[in-house]
Formats: sequence, C-alpha cells, structure tokens
Amino acid sequence: MKMKRIAVLTSGGDCSGMNAAIRAVVRAGLSAGLEVVGVQKGYHGLIDRHYEIMSTRSVSNVLQRGGTFLQSARCKEMYDEPGQRLAADNLKGLGVEGLIVIGGDGSLRGGLALARRGIPVIGIPASIDNDIPFTDMSLGVDTALNNIMYAVDCLKDTASSHDRAFVVETMGRNCGYLAVAAAIATGAEVTLIPEEPFDIGAICKDLRRRFDEGRSNSILMVAEGAGNAQQIADQIKDRIGFEIRVMILGHYQRGGSPSAFDRILGARFGVGAVEALMRGEQGKMIGLTRSGLQFTELEKVIETGKRPIDEIVLKLSKVLGI
Ligand code: F6P
Repeated sequence: MKMKRIAVLTSGGDCSGMNAAIRAVVRAGLSAGLEVVGVQKGYHGLIDRHYEIMSTRSVSNVLQRGGTFLQSARCKEMYDEPGQRLAADNLKGLGVEGLIVIGGDGSLRGGLALARRGIPVIGIPASIDNDIPFTDMSLGVDTALNNIMYAVDCLKDTASSHDRAFVVETMGRNCGYLAVAAAIATGAEVTLIPEEPFDIGAICKDLRRRFDEGRSNSILMVAEGAGNAQQIADQIKDRIGFEIRVMILGHYQRGGSPSAFDRILGARFGVGAVEALMRGEQGKMIGLTRSGLQFTELEKVIETGKRPIDEIVLKLSKVLGI
C-alpha cells in the first residue's frame, strides 16, 4: 500500500541548515503525493501533540534563515519508556507512516527508541559539533565554521594593532573537530582539543618565541571540551610577557544564514530521507561520505558513539601551527 503521511521534526541544539532540510522534506514529500506533518519543538511536540500539516507556503522564505522554524528542544521525557510510548502512540494515532528526525546524537537516540516501537524513522545528522559517526559532515558545521572564521578574522585585526594574543573558545561539546577545522581556516597558532593532551608550559614558550620572531598576534583555539578559555588565559598571562584576551564564541556559532554548503546538504539529506522512507528503509541515518549518500542503521550509529576527528584535519593543524 502506498505511503500517505510522514512527519518531520528538529530536535536538540539547533543549527543553520535545519530549515533547508525541513523545506526539502516538505517539498519532496508533497511532490511524491505525501502529506507532511511538521512537529513543533522536537519530541515535546510529539508528546504534547503540537503539529500541523505543511504546505509549500509553510516552507517559503525559510531557506536563507538560520535556526529552525519548527523550533527545537532537548526533551528529557524521551529518555524514558512512558515518554517514548506516548510519542509513538501519538504518531500512530495521527496515521504517520514515517518520521524524519533532524538533530544530533541525543535526537538520533530518540529516533532509535521510536524505531524500536514500530515507527519507520530516518535520521538526518545535524549538529555543529561534527561528532556523529558515519557521515563526514553533519548539517550546520560549515556555517558554524564560517561564523568562527569571520569572528577570528576580526579579532586578528584588533590583536595585531596591539601585539596581543587571543584565546578563542569554540563549542563542540566533547569533540574537537570544530576547533581544529577553525584553526586551519583562520591560521590559529595553537589548537587545544579534548582528544589530545597539551602542555601549558610548552605553549607559553612557543607563544613567546613567535612574538620574539616578530608576530603581532597569536590565536589559541580552544575547544570547549578541552577547558575553559578564561582559565587557560589566566594560566598563560603572566608567563608570556604580552597581553592576552579571551573570546568565548558561544551560541553565536550556531546561528546565521546557512552557507551554500549547508543549504545544499540540507536539500540532499531532506530529499534522500523522504526517498528512503518511500523505498521502505527505516531505522537508519542518512550520511554524507566520499562515495555519496549512505544509510547506516541507527543502532550502529548510537553504538559507535563519537566520530573521531579526521586524521588529515588533525595533521594539517599541527603542520601549520608553527
Ligand atoms: O551540541 C551542540 C552544542 O552547541 C554544543 O556544541 C554545546 O556544548 C551545546 O550544544 C550547548 O547547548 P545549549 O544550547 O543547550 O546551551
């Protein structure tokens, strides 16, 4: 029997590109003759029954906007049986035959719980952390990197005018990808990430040497999982002989108009997810790999845990950070 109705939600920390993915799901669904239900505020909307039928009008003028117009949330109820059961029952009651979950690892875990309760689920990896395995890039990473790049370019102007160093703290939770990739893109001298040990004494010596060689600024890129930028600056400031300032980029990184890459990735993931549901695939996450779009069992994604940082990216940041 032909599928009639699917639903889409965004969950967890938002990121730029989510709107592009929702738009692609809605438009691909409508052009395949499906009804598409948009769920508000992630899994909360499933539990509290906040949803509405989407039309092309619902997704007009959203492609260029950051965040998610369906809104997002981290939903504690989805960790437990009663919440999962209620969400699955509400979906079944609504006649939804397929659910597309756009979000990070916690959201995919929620998707797996629903898949185990008989809901056909396809997950779309979306998180600026780039910590989800079986995809080279998650949605939102590229825009976040561009945001960081813009901020650090500005910092370098003012740092050079005053012979200063800056400690810049990026997000990423316990994953250093964002900091390493941002360090390459901005030419940061030092990168501190949770995956690699570091020695503050050696960093101070290197910073001093660089300034003695005539550098007018230095950027230390610190992933939030590697430590607190202010505390790191406090440990360094009296040992280098020049001024140091701190910039915590925080949630600024998650917003803003999505880059072309994230808009296109959102389109590919959204259309790919709808097509997968229509082919009868379920309990899987779509991902972007060298050989194109790939589907991996949600169970395997969750079991694998954190995606390791690409060796090439790590190597680049080391070779260039002299
Ligand atoms: O997972 C995305 C992320 O932005 C992390 O990088 C960060 O640690 C966390 O979410 C912040 O969460 P919240 O928006 O709840 O403060």
